[in-house]
Amino acid sequence: MLILGIESSCDETSAAVVKDGRELISNTVATQIPEHRLYGGVVPEIASRRHIENIGPVTRQALADAGCTLDDIDAVAVTYAPGLIGALLAGVSFAKGLCYGSGKELVPVHHLRGHIASLYLTHPGLEPPFVALAVSGGHTHMILVEGYTSFKVLGRAVDDAAGEAFDKVARTLGLPYPGGPEISKLAVGGDPSRYKLPDPHTSGEFDVSFSGLKTACLNIVNTAAMKGEEIVREDLAAAFEQKVTDILSRRLITAAAEHSLPACVCGGVSVNGELQRKCRIAAEKAGIEFYAPDRKLCGDNGAMIASAGYYEYIAGTRASLDLNAYATMEMSTTHE
Ligand code: KG4
Ligand code: ZN
Repeated sequence: MLILGIESSCDETSAAVVKDGRELISNTVATQIPEHRLYGGVVPEIASRRHIENIGPVTRQALADAGCTLDDIDAVAVTYAPGLIGALLAGVSFAKGLCYGSGKELVPVHHLRGHIASLYLTHPGLEPPFVALAVSGGHTHMILVEGYTSFKVLGRAVDDAAGEAFDKVARTLGLPYPGGPEISKLAVGGDPSRYKLPDPHTSGEFDVSFSGLKTACLNIVNTAAMKGEEIVREDLAAAFEQKVTDILSRRLITAAAEHSLPACVCGGVSVNGELQRKCRIAAEKAGIEFYAPDRKLCGDNGAMIASAGYYEYIAGTRASLDLNAYATMEMSTTHE
C-alpha cells in the first residue's frame, strides 16, 4: 500500500511516498530556515505563505521521485495538529484538494505520532511496545508507545521544550536560528565544568523543566556583560548541552527500564550526538535496547507522516473533507 504523506506544521514543507508504513520510496523537503534565520526564529505569516507556494511543487517532486502519479497512491496522510495554525492549514487544505479531485481517502496524522513513526522507517524490526522520548522545538514528551496508534504520555516539559531552550540559549550566545546544531558545534572542545548550571526540579517523575537552565545561562551572560568581562562561549554551550542531554538521557532510560521496554528518541533534537551517545551508554548499562531515527528523518518530514498515516489507515482512521487543523492537541486524541 502506497501512502502520500504531507507535512507543513512549522518551517519545513515536505511530501513523501512510503510503502506499507516501512519502506521509504521518496521524501522531498523544502526548508524555510534561511529565510526565518533573518528574524531569529520562525515568523508564522512567512511560514504559511511559503508553504502555500511550495506544497504543490514539493508534492509533484515526491511523486516523480517515487516514479508514480497520484493514481498509484492509496491514501493521502496529512499533519493536522499540533503546530502553527496557518502553516498546518496550508498542508491540510492542499491534501483535501488532492482527495477531492482524485477521490482518494484522507488520513489525519498527529505530528508527534509522525515523529515516532520515523523510527519504523529506520528500524524494520522495531515494533511497539517501547518508550519514546519525542524531543523537538515544540515538544518534549516521554511516551509509552503501547501500539501503532495507542499512546500514553508518561511525562513532558513543564515549560520550554528542549529544542526551544536550545534555540533561546543560542540566541543569548549570539548564534543563529535554529540554535540546537549551533550550540552542538560550539560545544565541541568546550569545558562543561567552567560554568555551574542548576539541576532543575520537577514533581512528575518523567517531567522535565528547562526554563531555569535557560535563565541561568542568560544571567551568566548578562552578569559578565555588566562587569565588562568576556564569557567563554564554547564552555557555556558545552555546560548547557551536557546538562540538557544528561537530564533527557537519564529520564528516558529510567522510564524504559521501569517498563522493561526498549528506549527510543525521535524529533529534531534527537539528532544531537551527545544525547544519542549518553542514551546508548545508559541503555547498555541497564540492559535495554536503544533506537534513534536516521539523521535525515529526525527533523520534520513527510515520510514520517506517511508511515504514521499507514498505521492510522490500517486502524480505520479517516477524515472527511471538512477536516480542520488544530494548533494544539493531545497525542492520545483519536480523530472522530
Ligand atoms: O522536530 P523539529 O524539526 O521541529 C519541530 O517539530 O519543532 O525540531 C526542531 C528543533 C529546533 O529547536 C532545533 O534547534 C533542534 O530541533 N535541533 C537540535 C539539533 N538539531 C536540531 N537540538 C539540539 N542538537 C541538535 N544537533
Ligand atoms: Zn517536529
